[in-house]
Amino acid sequence: MTMLYLDHAATTPLRPEAAEAMAPYLGEMYGNPSGIHDVSRRAKNALEDARERIASILGAAAPLEVVFTGGGTESDNLGVKGPAFAGGRRGGIVTTEIEHEAVLASARFAHSVGCPLTIVGVEADGVVEPSRVAEAVGPDTAVVSVMAANNETGITQPIRKVVEEAKASNPDAVVHTDAVQAFVATEVTADGTGADLITLAGHKFGGPKGVGLLWVTEGSVLEPAVHGGGQELGRRSGTHNVAGIVGMAAAMEAAVADRAFFRDRVSQERDRFEAALVAAFPDIEFTGRLEDRLPQHSHFRIPGVSAETLLIRLDQAGVAAAAGSACHSGAVEVSHVLAAMGMEPQAAAEALRFSFGWTTRPGDGAEAATTIITEAQALR
Ligand SMILES: Cc1ncc(COP(=O)(O)O)c(C=O)c1O
Repeated sequence: MTMLYLDHAATTPLRPEAAEAMAPYLGEMYGNPSGIHDVSRRAKNALEDARERIASILGAAAPLEVVFTGGGTESDNLGVKGPAFAGGRRGGIVTTEIEHEAVLASARFAHSVGCPLTIVGVEADGVVEPSRVAEAVGPDTAVVSVMAANNETGITQPIRKVVEEAKASNPDAVVHTDAVQAFVATEVTADGTGADLITLAGHKFGGPKGVGLLWVTEGSVLEPAVHGGGQELGRRSGTHNVAGIVGMAAAMEAAVADRAFFRDRVSQERDRFEAALVAAFPDIEFTGRLEDRLPQHSHFRIPGVSAETLLIRLDQAGVAAAAGSACHSGAVEVSHVLAAMGMEPQAAAEALRFSFGWTTRPGDGAEAATTIITEAQALR
């Protein structure tokens, strides 16, 4: 049975461009880019070529603004703890209740060793109010971390305003944004958002897993999250994942070239999908402010239908989807994001996330809706 894959927010299948670009670096081009001989040099050339291509796609001022990491989680750790611990400080952290655990757990750890921490709440529609962030920013704030789009609800955040207002409260505060989910559908740049640090993860846009980057704009000083041999100008030690980085660069080129088409295709499928569900379940409840969400996400609940039970039936019927966030567990537990939005635990246990992506074909939305309608009606 081929699965209808609607869990692209958890991870995306590898794009063929990435697989092809990676193949030599999983084979004959095995060098460690930190060495001095020709085998190393070839790997180093590939690494720096990938960095230049990525920096140029992103619009970074210099290639070395791109710091390669072991994925979104690690970039978030560096983005939060890096400025908080810079220069031996215990700087203050301001973040929000709806951040990914990679940000929240980093912030809580930093707090446990002395960094002041404020976690700002979110409005019932899932949107962070910039003035609430700005109010929490004070003279001791080293870093503000607010995501560009939420991984569960798909709701996009007013990052530009968050940055403007946070910097008005403290111009020295570094602003980090986790753009892991936003990037595939929307341009996320330091100029556009005003952010100093931006997290991206390769596997959310058709690249391999276990590789990501932190875009560190000039002047941002970071304590490394991974200490060691001093790679990446000391900002992230460890032998480079050359194949992964080369694959991420190829996937990024393909994703960005395809972005306008991607947006049209996924939003069309998502809209058809939702229209069919609304027709079958007039009491369906979509989550959050619908005009502010990524075009590939659909997050809702069908009252009276348990997400866990429905997902098991959907899995058996060939549709792969998620309840809340699938990033950190296989278990269905009440989502901290939905709780922050004020959703009751029983309603949260009915919440489902369907995420379309680059493998989505015309008709997938309608086909998925038909299966969901059959399976959910059987449970009602
Ligand atoms: C918003 C967000 N941030 C961070 C991560 C973690 O990235 P990674 O899986 O590459 O560690 C994810 C998902 O996994 C995510 O959705």
